[in-house]
Amino acid sequence: MYKVLETTFLQEIIVRMVIEAPEIARKRKAGQFVTLMIDDKGERIPLTIVDSDSEKGTITIIFQIVGKTTTHLASLKKGNYIMHILGPLGHPTEIENFGTAAIVGGGVGIGVAYPIAAALKKAGNKVISIIGARTKDILILEDEMKAVSDELLVSTDDGSYGFCGFTSQVLQNVIDRGQKLDIVYAIGPVPMMRVLANLTKPYGIKTIVSLNPIMVDATGMCGACRVSVGGKTKFGCVDGPEFDGHQVDFALLMSRLRMYCDEERQAVQHYRCECDGK
Ligand SMILES: Cc1cc2nc3c(=O)[nH]c(=O)nc-3n(C[C@H](O)[C@H](O)[C@H](O)COP(=O)(O)OP(=O)(O)OC[C@H]3O[C@@H](n4cnc5c(N)ncnc54)[C@H](O)[C@@H]3O)c2cc1C
Ligand code: FES
Repeated sequence: MYKVLETTFLQEIIVRMVIEAPEIARKRKAGQFVTLMIDDKGERIPLTIVDSDSEKGTITIIFQIVGKTTTHLASLKKGNYIMHILGPLGHPTEIENFGTAAIVGGGVGIGVAYPIAAALKKAGNKVISIIGARTKDILILEDEMKAVSDELLVSTDDGSYGFCGFTSQVLQNVIDRGQKLDIVYAIGPVPMMRVLANLTKPYGIKTIVSLNPIMVDATGMCGACRVSVGGKTKFGCVDGPEFDGHQVDFALLMSRLRMYCDEERQAVQHYRCECDGK
């Protein structure tokens, strides 16, 4: 059992949770994730480890409330327990001094981008971070990202804060001003990662994306998380979650993510009815 130490709503539907998990905290590196199962009736879902403290024995996750399990998870308070947490899983981000790195985070993907930006900065890179959200009210971790970046650029789709438009337009502006980029990390909604990978390809800028296929066992056994990269089948859980964005078949990824839409809708409706009935 894993004790919840802190639950903070960063925005209406985005939650930061600190959990006691000393073994995971000791081993975890940037880019890795856990799978967690709240109780014996729940499903196992993957979430990135955004931060850890090996001395306190804690890990931090940041998640968006999108369906049944994340709704249930957000209801847990200090002192509640999570039944299973497995991790750290996945390959850590390959961190070295590339030169200048652009880190692009969209929506809750900013939570995933943050440890990568911090690790790249620590390795001596010049870090240009670009973060974006639909609107100002759901933008997260601006101060944290600023603290680990040489330059932070913000965009909102509706223009309520920062540049009015998408993160891809901000990255294009950075390239257009003559900034040499040695590597780009793109983390966020699949359409955003696809646009960014298409943008950087003609410039030959290496682009790493962090994929979020549906995962079940997260040990490479079930095949649920398969993605096509460079025409080869890879498993997101054991071969990823990061891949060369120029090689990913994003159309296949998007169609696989939509496979269980009806069941997911029913599950969250059922969960809310159960809660309302209590
Ligand atoms: C490696 C990895 C890291 C992730 N890190 C984060 C993170 O740090 N923060 C965050 O908010 N989200 C993260 N996700 C996505 C997160 O796992 C899903 O939002 C969550 O599983 C949704 O569960 P639900 O029951 O609330 O929603 P549901 O209604 O069940 O699903 C909503 C959507 O979430 C996705 N999803 C559902 N079940 C799974 C599953 N078992 N595995 C993967 N995706 C699923 C699907 O796209 C689905 O359409 C990550 C996914 C992966 C693969
Ligand atoms: S989740 Fe089963 S193989 Fe990756």
